[in-house]
Amino acid sequence: MKLIRARDYDHMSRQAANIISAQVILKPDSVLGLATGSSPIGTYRQLIDWYRKGDIDFSQVRTVNLDEYVGLGPENVQSYAWFMRHNFFDHINLPIGNTNIPDGTNPDAAAECARYDRVIRGLGGIDLQLLGLGPNGHIGFNEPDEFFDKGTHRVALREATIQANKRFFDREEDVPRFAYTMGICDIMQASRVVMVVSGASKAAILREAFFGPVTPRVPASILQLHKHFTLVADEEALGEVAVSC
Ligand code: F6R
Repeated sequence: MKLIRARDYDHMSRQAANIISAQVILKPDSVLGLATGSSPIGTYRQLIDWYRKGDIDFSQVRTVNLDEYVGLGPENVQSYAWFMRHNFFDHINLPIGNTNIPDGTNPDAAAECARYDRVIRGLGGIDLQLLGLGPNGHIGFNEPDEFFDKGTHRVALREATIQANKRFFDREEDVPRFAYTMGICDIMQASRVVMVVSGASKAAILREAFFGPVTPRVPASILQLHKHFTLVADEEALGEVAVSC
């Protein structure tokens, strides 16, 4: 694991954007695995800025998103498809046909998960996967469990996730209870993984995930075993980590 210590959220975002930008410059048709949530928004903002300055070209990039709420279509402002367009895709020259997100409107979970696994395989795997860290250690929507779930699957969101994500909805009852998510194998098979973590509220789970044992009870802990895993975290998120590495 490579740890990049950032001063704050903006610095973390620029550091992560630098890594993604280098990936796209070195391999213009890269497959980028993307995340939603608060953590990567600054990274997307920085990439948009560099795109506008003419420094990055996304025209050949392909993307696969980690997850989507079951029941929400791309026109729903709470959907991850909408989030991605609003926060990233609409502002760069990435053809929308090059982007992939699980289809939350497909009620047939087995068919949708099999389709998404085929999409990932068809792209030849992921060159760089961007991740955030869930409050309970989830990555994508791979929630704490007795085992690591391999491929794309339908998951029941844990109470901690519902509580954390209700800030994006008018009412807690509106938070979908199920999601489709890429599995742990899909994420672990990415050539490079970059995680952005910011803020004191993530300090305890960051320590548990990356300075404790590897366990499906803290799904992110599996990343300790990834050959090219880079953790970009700010001082507050690293507040409970005493070691330097
Ligand atoms: C989002 C995702 C989630 C988030 C995690 C952290 O696509 O897969 O795992 O990365 O819940 O969310 P934030 O960044 O909002 O704290």
